[in-house]
Amino acid sequence: MRNQEIVEKIQKLKEERRAIILAHNYQNPEIQDIADFTGDSLELSRTAAETDASVIVFCGVHFMAETAAILNPERIVLLPRLDAGCPMADMITADDLRKIREKYPDAPIVTYVNSTAEVKALSTVCCTSANVIKVVSSLSNHPLVYMTPDRNLALYASRHVKANIAYWDGYCPIHDGLRAEDVLRARKNHPNAVFIAHPECRPEVIELADHVFSTSGMLRFVEESDHDEFIIGTEVGILYPMKKRAPDKKFHPASERMVCANMKKTTILDVLRALETLEPRVTVPEDVRKNALSAILKMLEMV
Ligand code: 13P
Ligand code: SF4
Repeated sequence: MRNQEIVEKIQKLKEERRAIILAHNYQNPEIQDIADFTGDSLELSRTAAETDASVIVFCGVHFMAETAAILNPERIVLLPRLDAGCPMADMITADDLRKIREKYPDAPIVTYVNSTAEVKALSTVCCTSANVIKVVSSLSNHPLVYMTPDRNLALYASRHVKANIAYWDGYCPIHDGLRAEDVLRARKNHPNAVFIAHPECRPEVIELADHVFSTSGMLRFVEESDHDEFIIGTEVGILYPMKKRAPDKKFHPASERMVCANMKKTTILDVLRALETLEPRVTVPEDVRKNALSAILKMLEMV
């Protein structure tokens, strides 16, 4: 089938099913082009919380579709590629977090949305890269705040919030793999460029950044900035919407290695199959869902 044919079938089925297609900013261009909404994790959660569509087709990774399912128990949530996971989300289990809660019984637990529903269900509040400082600040009166699963996000929060923060030693293999040497090389090759980084990057990389943003924060910044050249410290998929929003500006990946294979799995054919079969679905057991929902809603109410 030709791409145009696939896209037409998707549009038709989308209407028949009363479906909405949500896509993360790292998705393949063909997916971003058919999506009803593209955004960062926070924006996608908000859109999932507000939609009245009967079916949500989530083009992203598993935890994102799971968050949509937690917010929408009555709607069908499809993840066109069930094998699209986030390695960081799998770095802590519910049992690990139970042990942490025993060790620090009074500490609020701030859990990055890049986590499983079971881990969210054991948490006080969720956060994303867009609101982590606000969420942690709101808890800074506690003697200790525990953050999971991303150590780099916790270290980023501790740069900005006066709080005693303990954290789990998880990380995103893509962002953690960006090294200071890569940034220094990119800066040497593009001396006039502004370097923007994602908070999942290592502290020594954050130290070199001119600005730190979530993926959608980056998109807004490059569009509105007076600068016309940027080094991008996040997954390379973001370059597509950047070029779309600011076609006359120049963008250089901080490292060509920053490719999230899981974010690249979904194709338009997968989306078509999902809409045809209404599979694969993502669901969350009700007891887990209720507790995870509480942590997600606390975050959404806060920001
Ligand atoms: P954002 O919420 O900034 O889009 O980040 C999601 C993510 O998975 C980054 O690796
Ligand atoms: Fe997970 Fe990193 Fe991929 Fe984001 S880029 S989905 S944090 S592995």
